[in-house]
Amino acid sequence: MAGRIVYLNGDWLAEEKASISIFDRGFVMADSVYEVVAVLDGKLIDFDGHMARLTRSLEALEMASPASPEELLEVHRQLIAKNRLVMGCIYLQISRGNPGDRDFLFPDPPVPPTLVLYTQARPDLLDTNLAKRGLQIISLPDQRWLRRDIKTTQLLWPSMAKMLAKKAGADDAWMVEDGLITEGTSNNVFIVKEGQLITRALSNAVVHGITRAAVLACAGEMGLVIEERGFSLAEALAAEEAFVTSATMLVSPVVRLDGQQIGSGQPGPVARSLRQHYITAARKAAC
Ligand code: PDD
Repeated sequence: MAGRIVYLNGDWLAEEKASISIFDRGFVMADSVYEVVAVLDGKLIDFDGHMARLTRSLEALEMASPASPEELLEVHRQLIAKNRLVMGCIYLQISRGNPGDRDFLFPDPPVPPTLVLYTQARPDLLDTNLAKRGLQIISLPDQRWLRRDIKTTQLLWPSMAKMLAKKAGADDAWMVEDGLITEGTSNNVFIVKEGQLITRALSNAVVHGITRAAVLACAGEMGLVIEERGFSLAEALAAEEAFVTSATMLVSPVVRLDGQQIGSGQPGPVARSLRQHYITAARKAAC
């Protein structure tokens, strides 16, 4: 994806010119938070929700924000314009900055945070092969830390889990803790049972998905009954349908879990109509 103009601490740079310190705490300690905002037709999807979660992540880590949500909106819009982005996403990361050396303690007084944003073009965002054929999932234990509600860049286990899925010939992994599925490596999980939607309730155990919230609102409008609670692999395997939500996957059906077919083994009608409903609503509200 060469040739991008990226944003780093107030500067607009060619991507190969953008660099940060070897002492940056994002690099040394994964002491940083991030957001991924989808872009459809050159417009931002669920932007306010992502900014609200960013503020919450920063507050949880007692990290200062380098810019207000209004300033960040302007940076997002300029990034879209400068890179002529039509379909894809914008990645934003804020780290606690560069204290000038490696130290476990937070710098005192604080140093300026590092703020990075860049675009990722995904021309097929609305029409991925995965969404068309449905995902094949494996299950793995959830080996992440316990504050998954803070959207940090501590992504080693999700990354390893995706590699294990790939090695197993699958598309992604669902993580299991105390007998219940927490979430996918980078998405929230849903099943459909007797026509009702079931998705894990929000807690420290999962990322509070912005797409999840928007999809639940769509489901409410469609008159679907929603139950927010954990469910096991056995319950998922017996479900009529399953799907995942995220800014990059929108609503994407799941058709196999640990080698066994879910429902008909094809993308299901509830996932398909929720995907369409969500895309329509998201486009209408895009900014
Ligand atoms: N991931 N759960 C996890 C573990 C995630 O990493 C994500 C998002 C979600 C869904 O959140 P949202 O609907 O707000 O995108 C749930 C992003 C897309 C990523 O890491 O690329």
